[in-house]
Amino acid sequence: MNPGLEARKCLKNKLYSISMNDLMDKVVSLAKRRGFIYPSSEIYGGISGFWDYGPLGVELKNNIKREWWRSMVYQRDDVVGLDAAIVMNPKVWEVSGHTAAFTDPLVECRVCHKRFRADKVPGVVHIKNSKTDYWKVSGGTNCPSGGHLLDVGDVNFQPRKFNLLMEAKVGVIEEEKRNVFLRGEITQGVFVNFQNVVNSSRVKIPFGIAQIGKAFRNEITPGNLTYRSREFEQMELEFFIKPDEKEGKKWFDYWKQQRMEWYLGFGMDKKKLRFREHTPDERAHYARFAEDIEFEAPFGWSEFEGIHHRGDWDLSRHNLTYRDEESGESYTPWVIETSGGVDRSTLFFLLNAYSVVGDRMVLKLHPKLAPIKVAVFPLVRNKEEIVKKAREVYLYLKSLSLSCVWDDRGNIGKKYYAQDEIGTPWCVTVDYDTLDNETVTVRDRDSAKQERVAIEKLVLYIEEKLGKKQEIAKRDC
Ligand code: GAP
Repeated sequence: MNPGLEARKCLKNKLYSISMNDLMDKVVSLAKRRGFIYPSSEIYGGISGFWDYGPLGVELKNNIKREWWRSMVYQRDDVVGLDAAIVMNPKVWEVSGHTAAFTDPLVECRVCHKRFRADKVPGVVHIKNSKTDYWKVSGGTNCPSGGHLLDVGDVNFQPRKFNLLMEAKVGVIEEEKRNVFLRGEITQGVFVNFQNVVNSSRVKIPFGIAQIGKAFRNEITPGNLTYRSREFEQMELEFFIKPDEKEGKKWFDYWKQQRMEWYLGFGMDKKKLRFREHTPDERAHYARFAEDIEFEAPFGWSEFEGIHHRGDWDLSRHNLTYRDEESGESYTPWVIETSGGVDRSTLFFLLNAYSVVGDRMVLKLHPKLAPIKVAVFPLVRNKEEIVKKAREVYLYLKSLSLSCVWDDRGNIGKKYYAQDEIGTPWCVTVDYDTLDNETVTVRDRDSAKQERVAIEKLVLYIEEKLGKKQEIAKRDC
């Protein structure tokens, strides 16, 4: 044994921890450099709170949505899907309470005149009881826009309520244009279609309607990359149950656990997730009870997904009821909601996966979420038979709809590093031996170990690793 070599190997596989401050900077830079997330319309200076997803970002985001849909719809027989329009009759938002109550408290700094959400400025506290309702700034509080003091001593002030709904105009002739809202939550599209779904499908309570789609909010302080955006995507389940306290508690607890397990199943670090119950004054106007799944981001513990007990708030406001065909009983169902953010998931999966192993930066995304599943390389680019064979392997994998890339530049080590950085789980190299025995080298992202695999068994090898076989076996049982 060579002790020097062993020590070097050991350092090569050492997992280095990254400080929280560094982590955010590194992920922001990776996101731009490798094509995950770009500022929207950047060539014109961008626009605050709007983001574009690049070639890798769109794959990661689509994989998250696909896996969510698979677990919430395909793998259950009590949930159906829906895709409602973004623009609805404005009456929906009046009846749902959003035009009156979908607000954030807005405060203005007297020094720099920048505006912030009062509930998000450290040192600003909400004093609310039966007699008073105001926000208090403690002496020494810094303005989030810079280092200056937000106010001197203890000063009370009343913030302005700011409605988050984004407006748009619909129509051709200027004078006849109608003011509408871009939906502030995707949820209302489900409620206004409740009767349609009950009448046109065979659902029976308890059942759920799942939906993924864009929502828009005039956020006061968008920031932390996509964490708080003005245009974002939600993935939500509205689960309809009998109006009964015991049922409410049972399903609320059930969905809480399901959603937590889903994130853990995709490799989220258990230590970085927690539940947090909403205090009564932070609950949304529709919620009887609410808990968030939070993620420990570099900018602190942050809301990831909300589990809400909406009671009969929405269906009763829309005047909708359900008739149980067996008992003949009619009632207004209660709703348990799971509401996750696709953009927050994309960001948090990136933050969770970012790691440094020895001298490699590795994005340890779950293989099912990884934007690219396989990269194919010829060992050398100047040997025609090797390039031809590698190209055949690549095109074969592509023909099976596996997301793969081709790379014939640079040396093999650099090619591995470039794939590690974007989270590609497997790299396949075609070399001289391939020409003799129809086998390739498969290198694993996390362990950096290499295995020889027959080309004819390559797809099976990848699918087994992706867990597809287990899924099929589980389903057939
Ligand atoms: N239908 C309930 C609802 O919309 P919410 O807590 O306001 O509840 C649910 O939002 C989820 O939507 C959040 O947990 C978050 O993941 C995502 N979300 C909300 N506002 C967002 C924003 N401004 N930017 C990105 N994601 C956001």
